[in-house]
Amino acid sequence: MGAFQARISYKSEDLTPILSSETIDYHYGKHHCGYANTLNSLIENTKYADKTLEEIIIKSRGVDQKIFNNAAQLFNHDFYWSCLELGCKPEGQLKMAVNNQFGSFEVFATQYAAFANTMFGSGWSWLVWESEKFSFVNTQNAETPVGTNQKAVCVIDLWEHAYYIDYRNNRAEYVDRILKRCVNWKFCGQQIARGGIENRKYR
Ligand SMILES: [Fe+2]
Repeated sequence: MGAFQARISYKSEDLTPILSSETIDYHYGKHHCGYANTLNSLIENTKYADKTLEEIIIKSRGVDQKIFNNAAQLFNHDFYWSCLELGCKPEGQLKMAVNNQFGSFEVFATQYAAFANTMFGSGWSWLVWESEKFSFVNTQNAETPVGTNQKAVCVIDLWEHAYYIDYRNNRAEYVDRILKRCVNWKFCGQQIARGGIENRKYR
């Protein structure tokens, strides 16, 4: 099996003015690619070498922390990039489910942002789907819903490298602008419809 790759499906400037090309270039080029390269060297000639990314995350959790961290960060970043797009509006099943549970998209976005802003330190703020409803989950460092009963629907990267060039210490503004103007709700809706994260290609 070939080496894992960090993938991104758009150009550096595609998310301006919410995220600058400098942020995307550093975040993807240094951080995301770094996790893929480190993972590839850590798993060479180990029992993880021929496993899928999800299998590596599940088998290394709590056992081989360095491998877990890099594998989970590779997944989390791939998922994060997929969750971003300018000007996308909620539609279809996702819009119905949001309205059923929260009353309106505005209430949902306000609650998601407030929950994300409770996070202390580096990590991720997830929208997950479990037992036919949404929950908000913050995970510390590289931790991820992969291998749990929670299906990842959307994620916001809360590591400083995700926002510091554009928003300095104002993480709340970054979260607010992402949620209101830069989430690919079509991709998020597909996660509910197909029931999770299977079939994604990492190498
Ligand atoms: Fe990141």
